[in-house]
Amino acid sequence: MQNNISIVFLGDIIGKPGRQVCRYFLPQIIDEYSPDAVIANGENLASGFGISRKVSEELFETGVTVFTGGNHSLHVTGAEDWFENEKRVVIPANFTKYIKGSRTAVVKSGNSSIFIACLVGRLFMNQADNPFSCADSLIEEITRTSDVKNPVIIIDFHAEATSEKRALFFSLDGKVTALLGTHTHIPTSDEFVSDRGTAYITDVGMAGAFDSVIGMNPSDSLEAFKTGRKVRLKPSFGTKRRLDGVVIKASGETGRALEIIRFSKFADFPAITPGA
Ligand SMILES: [Fe+2]
Ligand SMILES: [Fe+2]
Repeated sequence: MQNNISIVFLGDIIGKPGRQVCRYFLPQIIDEYSPDAVIANGENLASGFGISRKVSEELFETGVTVFTGGNHSLHVTGAEDWFENEKRVVIPANFTKYIKGSRTAVVKSGNSSIFIACLVGRLFMNQADNPFSCADSLIEEITRTSDVKNPVIIIDFHAEATSEKRALFFSLDGKVTALLGTHTHIPTSDEFVSDRGTAYITDVGMAGAFDSVIGMNPSDSLEAFKTGRKVRLKPSFGTKRRLDGVVIKASGETGRALEIIRFSKFADFPAITPGA
């Protein structure tokens, strides 16, 4: 009997507007695809910057299995102490080893194991260890410690530059089930599955307000760009929302991706007071 695995992956979720649109659509998405795991990038979950236990709980209840992270993973004060004992949240594997937190998460489904990790890019971003060498070590460790022969491996590459994301694909082609880009909050239409069974997309997109600058309030962004001043960005609370994601279908026997399906969903919400 074929043991096929289905995984839903959601792009960066931006503050309360992003959490709301996830809570609205996730039950439908779960009904449609019956995923073995729902993975979401959570680096912007708390007021647009960072992730906390309180806000993540809202989405664990709705069906998210694991949160990946990015350059904003450590933004909330005290998050590191929570990460240390929270197996459902992974921090970028190429953050310096002195930062506390899980670098991989594993989800069991039938006879298969799904390993989940994320890495941050280095082009136009803050310092981190080399994501290419770190990915090699990560895969070596997963292969060595996995209780199944061909685990499903999902890597979120949280990076600014499309070139760095494409290059990592060629480094990992045939070694992972999926390499999924995040961080730019703009979905790209270049998804494919390679001949070696790796699914790829340069950026999955985001969950948040449609009328926004990558999820943030346009007037704050405009002020920053027009004046050059340092402006504290806040999530846009526009009522029209979007949710971008992909579904990966893979073989539980070989760990190879079979299909990648990109989706974007839109809905109007009642006006809410900014906060959280
Ligand atoms: Fe982000
Ligand atoms: Fe980011």
